[in-house]
Amino acid sequence: MTEPVSFYDEIGGHATFQRLVEVFYREVALDPVLKPMYPEEDLGPAADRLRMFLEQYWGGPTTYGEQRGHPRLRMRHMPFHVDPDARDRWLRCMRAAVDDARLPPIQEATLWDYLERAAHAMVNTFEPSGIGPDAGGRPTL
Ligand code: HEM
Repeated sequence: MTEPVSFYDEIGGHATFQRLVEVFYREVALDPVLKPMYPEEDLGPAADRLRMFLEQYWGGPTTYGEQRGHPRLRMRHMPFHVDPDARDRWLRCMRAAVDDARLPPIQEATLWDYLERAAHAMVNTFEPSGIGPDAGGRPTL
C-alpha cells in the first residue's frame, strides 16, 4: 500500500507554498488599500501564518493548528474592513502568485477555485471604508 499523495505534495510541497505567499505579499505591499490593513509593518509574520494555513489546508504539515489553534478565519477577519473592493484586491494579488506558480491546469483550477470561494466568504461588510466592523459599526468619516 502506498500513501495517497496530498495536494500539498502534488504541487511541490513547502517550496511552492513559500513562493506563493512571497509573491502574494510582494503584491500586497504595493496595494494602497490592503497594505494599511495589516497591523504589523513587517508582512513576514502574516506571510508565515497564511503559508502555514494553506499548507495545512492542503494536507501538508499541521504547524498552523499547533501554533494558532482552530483557524476560525471569518472570525479572525472581523477586525478588518473586508469589503468587495478589498476582496478583489486580495484576489488580484493572489492571481499574480498563482500565475507565478505555473501549475498544471487541473491543479491551478483546484487551487484558484478554493481561493476565490474563500475570499468571497471572508467579506464582512458592504459599507464604505470607515463604517463597519473595524469601526465598531460607527461612521468615522
Ligand atoms: C478577502 C480579502 C482578505 C483580506 C483583505 C484579508 C486580510 C487579512 C488581514 C489584514 C490579516 C491580519 C494579518 C495577520 O495575520 O497579522 C489576515 C490574516 C489572515 N488571513 Fe486574510 N484576508 C483576506 C482573505 C483571506 C483568505 C481568502 C484566506 C484563506 C484562504 C485568508 C487567510 C488568512 C490567515 C490564515 C490569516 C492569519 C490568521 C491568524 O491569525 O492565524 N485571508 N487577513
